[in-house]
Parts: sequence; structure tokens; C-alpha cells
Amino acid sequence: MLDAADLIKELQQMRDDGHLSDALLRKAVRSLSEDDRFDWTGVYLLKDEELWLHNYVGEPTEHAKIPVGTGICGRAVAERTNLNVEDVSKEENYLACSPETQSELVILIRAGEDIFGQIDIDSEQKAAFTEEDEIGLIGVADKLAEQLAAERRDA
Ligand code: SME
Repeated sequence: MLDAADLIKELQQMRDDGHLSDALLRKAVRSLSEDDRFDWTGVYLLKDEELWLHNYVGEPTEHAKIPVGTGICGRAVAERTNLNVEDVSKEENYLACSPETQSELVILIRAGEDIFGQIDIDSEQKAAFTEEDEIGLIGVADKLAEQLAAERRDA
């Protein structure tokens, strides 16, 4: 994966320069999608018990809106946990984005008890995602959550 620490620094610099969450969410998705294993990279935001697709790099998906509890994305929110699914064909509660997808990683964008959304990544390789990916992505998600929390406070 790209150097998460560098991306986190760039996101903080954007915050310091006055960019809002919309720009940070797009920047994070664009940068993360450069990894060859990441065949579909997107961010969903949580609103009224549904996940709304904010932005993505990859093939268009029909899953622009996912109820909490549905699919791997919705389950992550319902269970308030990150999910690293090594083989999506073994998941009962799975919404296929592309028939090529083999594994999926969902990292929540959260600040304490508040869940703002998630980073969702699909790979065409089985078990594509490592613990190192998870740790790096949690750092990126935390930086995004800082900005989203600041905007919610100011709203
Ligand atoms: N596979 C996800 C749906 C989102 S797409 O992968 C873009 C799920 O099961 O929730």
C-alpha cells in the first residue's frame, strides 16, 4: 500500500489550508486507489441508517445506497467493526459490485462512538488485504473523521 503516513500528512495539510471533508474524502480515495490490488476504492457516508456512496474510483456500482445491516458494508456499521473479508464467495450477506471481486476490506470512519461512514475497498485477488493495510487505513480514516467531526460541531 502507499505510505499511509504520507497520505495522512497530506490530508492534515489540506485541513490546515482550509479544505473541507468533501475534498479530503476525494483525495483519500484517489490516492488509495493507486494500489494495484485495490480494484474498487470508495467512501460511503452514513446518514439516517443508510450508507450513501460519496466518491469512488473503479467500475460504477449499483450499490450507491446501502441500509445498515445489509451487505458487508452495512454489517460493518451494524457491528461497529472493521471487516477484512478474505473470500467474498463465502459471505451470505454480500452485495456483489463486480463478479471479479474476491476480497473486500471495510474500515469505519469514526470518532469515538460516532460513525461517519467507511472506506470500502474491493480486490480481484483473494485475501488481498494485510494487517498493515488495515493499520494504515485506520490512520487515514481517523484523519477523515477528525475533519467530519469538526464540521459536525460547527454545523
Ligand atoms: N460489496 C459491498 C457492496 C459495495 S460494493 O462492493 C462497491 C457489500 O457487500 O456491502
